[in-house]
Amino acid sequence: MIAIYMAIVIVAMVILGSVTKNLQLKKSSRDMITFISLFAFFVMAMFPLIGAVVHDGPVCWFFQKWGNIFMGLFMFFFMTLAAVAIIELIIWTVRRASKKKGGVPHGAAAMLIIPLIVTVAVNLAGSQTAHDVKVTNYSIEKEKLGLTEPARIVLFADTHIGVNSTPKIYEDMVDRINEQDADLVVVAGDLVTSSFGAMRDPETYASIMRGIESKYGVYAVYGNHDVDEPLLGGFTYAGKENAKRNPAMEGWVSDCGWKLLTDDVMRIPELNGLVIAGRRDESRPGEGFDERAPLSDLLKETDPDDSILLLQHEHSDLYELDEYGVDLSVSGHTHDGQIFPGNIITKILTEQSYGMENWGDAIAVVTSGVGYYGPPIRVCTISEIVVIDLI
Ligand SMILES: [Fe+2]
Repeated sequence: MIAIYMAIVIVAMVILGSVTKNLQLKKSSRDMITFISLFAFFVMAMFPLIGAVVHDGPVCWFFQKWGNIFMGLFMFFFMTLAAVAIIELIIWTVRRASKKKGGVPHGAAAMLIIPLIVTVAVNLAGSQTAHDVKVTNYSIEKEKLGLTEPARIVLFADTHIGVNSTPKIYEDMVDRINEQDADLVVVAGDLVTSSFGAMRDPETYASIMRGIESKYGVYAVYGNHDVDEPLLGGFTYAGKENAKRNPAMEGWVSDCGWKLLTDDVMRIPELNGLVIAGRRDESRPGEGFDERAPLSDLLKETDPDDSILLLQHEHSDLYELDEYGVDLSVSGHTHDGQIFPGNIITKILTEQSYGMENWGDAIAVVTSGVGYYGPPIRVCTISEIVVIDLI
């Protein structure tokens, strides 16, 4: 992963250098711009790398924080640069075919200035979108979950409290949740971003989460990022064996006032005995577990008549939900791709990247989540809590 990242950085520097070298300026100015832009780019590109290799702690978090911001800038600068280069090439080809005079139509200046403007604009707008928590509503017939009276479930996931987090987004999230008058609140994992310590002030975040109001409690599961492991620009690379659950994590979840489910099943008598089954994460089951319990084991104590709400971080086993009597599965994990073109890629690569879908007799809801992972931006996706009305 580190070698791939360095290869990308080197290719990017070659491209950037070739653009600045072709600026129509005096040679001395051109050389100075080339040196400054390559030097600045290289220094910034080292931030995610240093954040990935130094030991988990304040130095690591500093480099991860600014490295994540750099990754957002880097992505959009080079995506726009590629788009501008393709447009310039098309115009040049058309001109050449029609035997019109002229070289590259707008030249290197356009290939530098347009990407810079787009990068800053998209990152500013993306940060605004990421921090604006929306409410997404779905409705299901109450009989589906064996209820005789209407009820309201609120789902949220992927809070990803970490190096780029500030409390404000979670305060807003809690405000949105409390506006819903929820009967039940479920939290579908990725509470932190691969470092419990990076939260820095767990008590502040726990006190915010304790403010969540829910008639019959708040139930949570862990996600793949609720372990301590090194990250490169937000991505894990060191393998499952290097991922360890921080011993303080469970106490923090308890301080939030949440009931943690790790391959556990609970019944809620006030909701006609609705069963909540909460799974360990599939890729990072934690605490010395090589793998989580299969659905057959997790649900073996339930009756065929039971109504089952499955809470799992990643939307897996979708084809088997029906077979094991799951009525509603709620998950996060995908972030709906978080940053364009991730939303398109996630749609292609996953069975359900977002929204509500039927899988046989079962219904699955996947949320795009509240927080962010890697660059603290969202482009073409939203931060949300999900409200499921059982009517
Ligand atoms: Fe996540």
